[in-house]
Amino acid sequence: MSQSLVIAVDGPAASGKGTIASRLAAHFGLPYLDTGLLYRAVGMGVLAQGGDLDDEAVAAAVAGALDPSGLSDDASLTTGEAGEAASRVASHPAVRAALLKLQRDFAAQAGGAVLDGRDIGTVIVPDAPAKLFVTASAEVRAERRWKQLTARGIEISYEDMLADIRKRDARDAGRDSAPMVQADDAILLDTTDMGIEAAFDAARRIVETARAKHGL
Ligand code: DC
Repeated sequence: MSQSLVIAVDGPAASGKGTIASRLAAHFGLPYLDTGLLYRAVGMGVLAQGGDLDDEAVAAAVAGALDPSGLSDDASLTTGEAGEAASRVASHPAVRAALLKLQRDFAAQAGGAVLDGRDIGTVIVPDAPAKLFVTASAEVRAERRWKQLTARGIEISYEDMLADIRKRDARDAGRDSAPMVQADDAILLDTTDMGIEAAFDAARRIVETARAKHGL
C-alpha cells in the first residue's frame, strides 16, 4: 500500500477537510471517498427503521448491509440531523468494524486514493504516505457551517451551531473506539485564518512533499 499515493485527510466537522480532500483528489487524479457519508447513511438508516441510535446491534446490522454507491448524491445525508446521527452510531465499535473493509479496499486501489474522515491516518490506513489533519477554531467552523446552512434557507442561530460543533467534537474525540486524533506522522493544517484557495494550496504542497519523500 505504501507504494501508491494514499492521502489520508482527517479533522473535525466543518474544518474544510471535505473540500480539501475532494480538490486533492481532482488535482492528483485519484478516486475520493468521503467516509463521513458512510456513518451518515448508517445513522439515517437506523432512524428510517425507527431504531435507536444507541443500539449497537441494530446500527451494526445497517452498517453490514450498507450499499455505498450513490451516497454522494443523497441530499438527506448532508443535513445536521444526519451528522448528529452519524456521530452517535460512529461510537459503536461494531459499526466501525463493519465499515472497515470497505474503506481499506477503497484505499488499496492500484493508483492510490484520497479518503477523508476522523480515523483514516490512525486506523484505516496507518501506513498512508501522505497524512493531513485539517482543523480550525470551533468559532470559525461554526461560522462557516452557519453561513452554508442559512444560504440554503435553513434557520439556525450561530450560538446553536457553535454548541453543536462543540458537542460533536467532544463526542468524536472522546469515544473509546478510534477517536478523532491527529496521527503522530500527520501534518497539521490549521485553516482558521485561511480561505479555501490558500488552504488547498497548503494541502497540495504537503502532499507534494510527502510524495517526494516516498518516491511516489
Ligand atoms: O465528516 P462528517 O461530518 O460527514 O462525519 C459525520 C460523523 O461521522 C462525525 O461526527 C463522526 C463520524 N465519522 C467517524 O467517526 N469516522 C470517520 N472516518 C468519518 C466520520
